[in-house]
Amino acid sequence: MNLHLLAPPPWVDYALLDSGAGAKLERFGPYTLVRPETQAIWPRRLPEREWQRADAAFEKSRGGDDGPGQWHTRRPLPDQWQLHQNNLRFWVRLTPFRHTGVFPEHSAHWAWLGRQIAARRAPTVLVLFGYTGLSSLFAAAAGARVTHVDASRPAILWAQSNQQLSGLADRPVRWLIDDVGKFVAREIRRGSRYDLLLLDPPVFGRGPKGEIWRLHEQLPVLVEQCVQLLSAEPLGVLLSAYATNMSALTLANVLAAALAEKAGTTSAGELVLREQSAGRMLPAALYACWSLGGHPHELADGKETIGCS
Ligand SMILES: C[S@@+](CC[C@H](N)C(=O)[O-])C[C@H]1O[C@@H](n2cnc3c(N)ncnc32)[C@H](O)[C@@H]1O
Repeated sequence: MNLHLLAPPPWVDYALLDSGAGAKLERFGPYTLVRPETQAIWPRRLPEREWQRADAAFEKSRGGDDGPGQWHTRRPLPDQWQLHQNNLRFWVRLTPFRHTGVFPEHSAHWAWLGRQIAARRAPTVLVLFGYTGLSSLFAAAAGARVTHVDASRPAILWAQSNQQLSGLADRPVRWLIDDVGKFVAREIRRGSRYDLLLLDPPVFGRGPKGEIWRLHEQLPVLVEQCVQLLSAEPLGVLLSAYATNMSALTLANVLAAALAEKAGTTSAGELVLREQSAGRMLPAALYACWSLGGHPHELADGKETIGCS
């Protein structure tokens, strides 16, 4: 198996300006943000004054890389502001867990997602751990009937306002506040089927009733169960995660094991963001992807492939 590095196509409204010294400097529309980034242990390229000029910087509270923290703003920022990419419009907000409602790296998969959806009339797509709904809305805009599951009511409300903002209110999207494990078990009992599955689990999470999600312990079972939900002619399964102590090969092995009985190809790699300052690639997420026939991905910028079979 080859591991690939996938970078999203350029965004007008987002750029990774620089990275280094444990942080990244990003532009979300008109505002620049500094956020901690454990992967960026190299030196920064932009002068310190560029970093100091950022509109807001996130400071971690003591204890844990993924815990809550505080935003310090240099000038008043709106509570939310709009970005657009492809045919989507969506809100950015500064959340207490450093996230902004947008993971630009995920758009590296959208060309593939659009092609898979276009291959079938109104295919069904199940999005698990769907967050603020950008991939769900991309799938809906491409013609899919989407079921989007997330434990967080605020995330679902945010996704619904993104749907309105994108002019996709008439598209068939079911927004469900549920625990992914319980939802998938229920769907198996009901005999539900989906043509395409997207999963973006966190390392640790909680369902709406406090159900615990632990990536390293529960992923293999969840993926096995999800495979039972695939339709007779599935279009694909895309699994992504941000876990510093996991390899893309791990995701690929989990996916390939669950799909061992089916024909098809599994590919895997890293989603990366290319910084503007020096062109270095910042690892942003891991992914594994399965689909029938051929290699599921064309590399977004055509060049980077590491490893070999
Ligand atoms: C933001 S995405 C993960 C994005 C990225 N992979 C990362 O880890 O930073 C995680 C989403 O999963 C949801 N989530 C966590 N545990 C869940 C559970 N047990 N059932 C359903 N959704 C859950 C959260 O509400 C959140 O919206």
